[in-house]
Amino acid sequence: MSTYIFILGKHPELSIAELESRYPKHKILAKGGDFVVMDLSELIDQKEFDQLGGCIKAAKLAKEVGKEELVSGISDVLFDHYHDVKLDYGLSLYGTSESQLRTFLMKLKKKLRTDGIKSRFINNDFKNISSAQYKSIKRKGIELVILKNGNQFMIAEVVGVQDIDSYSKRDFDKPFRNMQMGMMPPKLAQILINLTGVKGCVWDPFCGSGTLVMEGLLMGRDMIGSDINPKHVEGAKQNVEWLKNNYQLPITNYELFEHDATEDFSGRFDAIAFEGDLGIPHNQFIHPDRLDEIVGDLDQLYIRFFENLKAMKGTAPIVAALPFFKLRDGDEIYLKNTLLAAEELGFKRDLDLKYSREDQAVGRDIYRFQLP
Ligand SMILES: C[S@@+](CC[C@H](N)C(=O)[O-])C[C@H]1O[C@@H](n2cnc3c(N)ncnc32)[C@H](O)[C@@H]1O
Repeated sequence: MSTYIFILGKHPELSIAELESRYPKHKILAKGGDFVVMDLSELIDQKEFDQLGGCIKAAKLAKEVGKEELVSGISDVLFDHYHDVKLDYGLSLYGTSESQLRTFLMKLKKKLRTDGIKSRFINNDFKNISSAQYKSIKRKGIELVILKNGNQFMIAEVVGVQDIDSYSKRDFDKPFRNMQMGMMPPKLAQILINLTGVKGCVWDPFCGSGTLVMEGLLMGRDMIGSDINPKHVEGAKQNVEWLKNNYQLPITNYELFEHDATEDFSGRFDAIAFEGDLGIPHNQFIHPDRLDEIVGDLDQLYIRFFENLKAMKGTAPIVAALPFFKLRDGDEIYLKNTLLAAEELGFKRDLDLKYSREDQAVGRDIYRFQLP
């Protein structure tokens, strides 16, 4: 068992739900606005971390000390990585104001010099380390996370950092993209898959460009993707081919085909995860009068989808990203009738969280349903 600090992304509650679902035997030791401390039996390294969509970095606890011993504690941890060659290091501070970094770094510099350790800190303007900086020191240096937890300070070694270049490559370089249809960020697809809490095959019945299928394949899952629009299915196939070539994946463990999600499906799967039809593009504010019609159509689609699932009698968990609409006056409209119908059909809902960007008029409500 090891203790890890996870630094959470822009939707902290969703990040915590993802961690709890991926590591069900976890024990949360401490929580703050942008971090969580967990005891885990799983090993977190960069490969494992790359499968978490909701966290920015993870660090493994090396030492816990009081304020007086902090500088010598950090020096001890750095010394373990020192091999008589100049050591590049960076510190990132959480749980307290980042402005204290300057004091820590200056004291540490003095201490390391006294201890005879040739080193250089890479913090720019005494700010926390960015993922690009981490990449630059990864092979020849070390980043430490310092977390103030009550009166104690945790000193932890960074073991995984969000690979923003790879996310953006997967998002923007794939051959089939369609902004009108709306595509979800790869990070969100990973979160949805992890929220299913199961390790087996995942079916995305509204696969669009195949984002969730691609992320599932990278996570080593068997994947099924289907969509009512043959052009989208063809595009998703092209995207998976692109993924295979660009990520050296000799994969065959997926299926992509045309299918109406409101109709019976006989394929075998262990969980359903999807971002469904959003009705309108993300960036389009809509007059409330027009919205009634859009929401009515979407409710109809999703109610038929749940009725069909009920008829299929499966008990697989269903993680759904359904749209909600922001009005200019600040109000939000969500698919109330879909939720009511799902409840009446007997689906239990144990997760209800938002994923939304300020500049977008359409956000996603993330729900998890299951038939008992
Ligand atoms: C917002 S897109 C999904 C985008 C996808 N998550 C991605 O990242 O590319 C919604 C998709 O639902 C599909 N769709 C709409 N109604 C459907 C139905 N009844 N059955 C299956 N797919 C449907 C649309 O063709 C569209 O591709």
